[in-house]
Amino acid sequence: MGANHVGFIMDGNGRWATAHGLSRAEGYAYGLIALRKVAKRCEERGVKAVSVYAFSTENIARPTDEINAIFGVVEKFNLTYDGRFKICYMGDFSTLPDKLADSIESVEQRTADNEGMTLNIAFNYGGRADIIHAAKIAYDHGEFIEDTFEKNLGSSRLPALDMIVRTGGEKRLSNFMLYEAAYAELFFLDKLWPDMQESDVDALLEDFEKRTRKFGK
Ligand code: IPE
Ligand code: IPE
Ligand code: MG
Repeated sequence: MGANHVGFIMDGNGRWATAHGLSRAEGYAYGLIALRKVAKRCEERGVKAVSVYAFSTENIARPTDEINAIFGVVEKFNLTYDGRFKICYMGDFSTLPDKLADSIESVEQRTADNEGMTLNIAFNYGGRADIIHAAKIAYDHGEFIEDTFEKNLGSSRLPALDMIVRTGGEKRLSNFMLYEAAYAELFFLDKLWPDMQESDVDALLEDFEKRTRKFGK
């Protein structure tokens, strides 16, 4: 069976920019081009939802100009997106600049009735914080069982996560969808994110279909 929900840890934008004589800031604009390409190919191949790691809660420790560049790319994307995806976000928006937080709300509203694939963007997101947030709500409602807990995760309205793909050579999750990762198939590519092509998506999805998933059985 094909994958319904694929997660991408879009790592390697900074290194890609440096290797091409560009600023790290410019690397994020190229990262967005790759994201559009990858997401479109996933949709063409029948994937129902793609979750991408765009900014972790830990990334806030980076230099201000780099953060401003990332925020700028994302805000512009939100304000200008006119494609067919349903765009949604997960993460903590309370500490983001107002204009950026507003642009998130506006793109979610504008695309809510779109017919296309769901593109879920993890932004100012941390897997541990998401678990704790969901646990607190479940606890407050006195219903601390797996089912009610899962309803409160950032990914609750999406299909079960089938795959996590990390580009950029590191073999770690860096706080991405930790709960959802439980039975996801993991893929690590040395390729830097802006180098991702449609053929890489094809190869990953074909590789996934060859794997035997056992879910402990
Ligand atoms: C990942 O790319 C995206 C963000 C953190 C926003 P990096 O910026 O981590 O790129 P490298 O790993 O330094 O090359
Ligand atoms: C993970 O990449 C975060 C995103 C891709 C947004 P990092 O570059 O922040 O992760 P580490 O620091 O290598 O673990
Ligand atoms: Mg990195």
